[in-house]
Amino acid sequence: MPSAREIKQAVKEHYSQLAQQGRSCCGDAGHLELLGYSQEDLAKLSDEVLSIGAGCGNPIALADLREGEIVLDLGSGGGIDVFLAAQRVGPRGRAIGVDMTEAMVERARIRAKKLSFSNVEFLLGEIESLPLADASVDVVISNCVINLVPDKARAFSEAFRVLKPGGRLIVSDIVTRGKRANFFKGDLRAWASCLAGAIEDKEYLKIISDAGFERVEIIAHSPIPEPAGFYSVTVRAFKPAGL
Ligand SMILES: C[S@@+](CC[C@H](N)C(=O)[O-])C[C@H]1O[C@@H](n2cnc3c(N)ncnc32)[C@H](O)[C@@H]1O
Repeated sequence: MPSAREIKQAVKEHYSQLAQQGRSCCGDAGHLELLGYSQEDLAKLSDEVLSIGAGCGNPIALADLREGEIVLDLGSGGGIDVFLAAQRVGPRGRAIGVDMTEAMVERARIRAKKLSFSNVEFLLGEIESLPLADASVDVVISNCVINLVPDKARAFSEAFRVLKPGGRLIVSDIVTRGKRANFFKGDLRAWASCLAGAIEDKEYLKIISDAGFERVEIIAHSPIPEPAGFYSVTVRAFKPAGL
């Protein structure tokens, strides 16, 4: 099993290359339609944003975003969900993306400028140590990222810290159905491709609950083409209102 440092380095190199090439790991814009992105949303964004979309779900569609809210996207990549969130929360709200891959952040910042977004911000940083104050955001979203993180408990406890009391978490990710031997664990390429770090669905939900979240539930799921036993879920959870 590679060390956490080796895994993060491999993940960074992989997504750096994709950012420089303007490519997604997961197919063309057709793959976004299969995930449920509406034609209307896709038409609002440029090809440069869509070509690099690397999600495995559609957290924005299920986040019920309201005008004026502050939204944080963990592992924002090329920024697709940040841009869609920014349109939903409007000029009184804000959408913030955090990503550890410099080339991704640079690319997203250039697109934000070109598309004239004034309510988005892309920060370079690790989601296990978020560069944000306690209780500073209304909603945390993430799309196909936590599986890449060796210390998932730390990532969810950071999401919990930065959420305001009563705030919500909507996360799409790859998990496995039931406990299964994951033969990819030693393969750094399989980590970067969102397979080796995928954990059992039940364990995933437990880590979120253990971070302090309540009402943790899977609100959508879809198959992925292969390998058998892996699938994509969208989980919703809330930070208790009294905290
Ligand atoms: C599969 S891509 C998904 C990108 C984006 N969410 C989307 O839907 O297009 C994974 C992204 O997560 C970022 N990432 C992985 N681990 C991270 C970590 N520990 N902290 C911050 N970003 C991370 C990678 O740099 C990459 O941009």
